[in-house]
Amino acid sequence: MTEKLELHGLRKTYGDHHAVEHFDLTVRDGTFLSLLGPSGSGKTTVLNMIAGLTQPSAGKILIAGEDVTDRPANLRNIGIVFQNYALFPHQTVFGNVAFPLEVRRLSPEEIARRVKDVLAMVGLDQLVDRFPSELSGGQQQRVALARAIVFEPALLLLDEPLGALDRRLRESLRRELRKLQRQTGITTIMVTHDQEEALSMSDQIVVMSNGRAEQCATPEELYRRPHNRFVAEFMGSANVVTGEWVDLSGAPRVPGAEEAAFAIRPENVAFHAIRPGDAARACTVVTSEYCGDHYRLHLMVDAIGPMTSHVRITEPPAAGTRGFVSWRPADMHPLRGHENAGTCRQT
Ligand SMILES: Nc1ncnc2c1ncn2[C@@H]1O[C@H](COP(=O)(O)OP(=O)(O)OP(=O)(O)O)[C@@H](O)[C@H]1O
Ligand SMILES: [Mg+2]
Repeated sequence: MTEKLELHGLRKTYGDHHAVEHFDLTVRDGTFLSLLGPSGSGKTTVLNMIAGLTQPSAGKILIAGEDVTDRPANLRNIGIVFQNYALFPHQTVFGNVAFPLEVRRLSPEEIARRVKDVLAMVGLDQLVDRFPSELSGGQQQRVALARAIVFEPALLLLDEPLGALDRRLRESLRRELRKLQRQTGITTIMVTHDQEEALSMSDQIVVMSNGRAEQCATPEELYRRPHNRFVAEFMGSANVVTGEWVDLSGAPRVPGAEEAAFAIRPENVAFHAIRPGDAARACTVVTSEYCGDHYRLHLMVDAIGPMTSHVRITEPPAAGTRGFVSWRPADMHPLRGHENAGTCRQT
C-alpha cells in the first residue's frame, strides 16, 4: 500500500493569525480526497502549501515518500486547477493544454499526440482552435483540467473547480471529473465548501474549521457518525440534542462524557399527530417546507428546543399544530467534545 501524500504537523501563520495548524494527513495512492469547510477555514492555504505556492511556517510535506517541503512549485510535478481556471487568454485550447509539455521540452509530435488524447478524454477534441473567450464556463473548466493532467502529474489539486458553474452543469461535471479520476488513477485533493459535492465525489473527506482538521473519514462515516457538533451541523441540518443521561435512557453512553450530546438526522425523526408511546416528545410545528419528495418540518420540541424532521406525507401540518416526535435510540449518534481529530490517516 503506497502513501502518495503525507503532511506532518503543517502550520501557516500570518502575523499572529494561525491560518492552518497541527495539520496531519496521509493520502493513499489513487484516492480522491476533499478538504471541506466554511470560508476562511484554511482549505486553500493547505492546498497552496502542498503545491509549493505558500511556504509553511512549520511541518513537512512528503510526496511519494520524498520530502518536498523546500522544493519549488515547478519541481513538484503537481497539476493544479484554480477556481478561476487561469487560462492563457491569447492561446488557443491547444496552446493552453500544450503549455506544460512545452515547458518540459517534449517533441512537437509527442506534444500533439498527448494534447489530442487528453482533449478527447475531456470531450473537447472538436474545439482545439478556439480561444478561451469563445468557450462556455464548463468548457473552460475542462481545458483547465486537461492542462492540469496532460503531463501525468503525481498529484492533482483542485480549488473549488466547479464553483463558478451553474447547478446542473456542476452536477454533470462532478460525475465526469470523478470518472476521469478513476480512469487515470491520479491522486486528487479537491477543495470545496459544498457538502453535497464532497459527499458525492470523495473517497475521503477532511472537514476543516479554524485551520484544523475536525474529522477525516469516508463520506458515509462522516454523515452517519460525526465526531462532534461542528461536523454534525456542517454536514447537513443535524439535530443536536443534549441532556442528562437519565433523560435520554436507551441512548449509547460515551465514556468520560458528563453531558450527553447526540446528533439525530432529520430523516430519522418521525412526526406524529397522536402520541405513539411514552418515549415520544410533544412539539409544536413552526413551519414546513416542500422539498419535492418530502416535507421539512421545523419544530419546537418541549424541553429540547428546535428540531427538524423530514417526513413523506401528502399534506403538511399547519404552523402552530401540536404533535409528537420520536426516534430510535440506534439513530442517536453520540458526539464528543470540540476536540481535534488528530492525525488523519486512511484506515
Ligand atoms: N496572504 C495572507 N495573508 C494574511 N492572511 C491570510 C492570507 N491568506 C489567507 N489568510 C487567512 O488565512 C485564513 C484561511 O484562508 P484560506 O484562504 O485558506 O481559507 P479557505 O478555507 O480557502 O476559504 P474560502 O472558502 O473563502 O476560499 C483566513 O482567515 C484568511 O484571511
Ligand atoms: Mg479558498
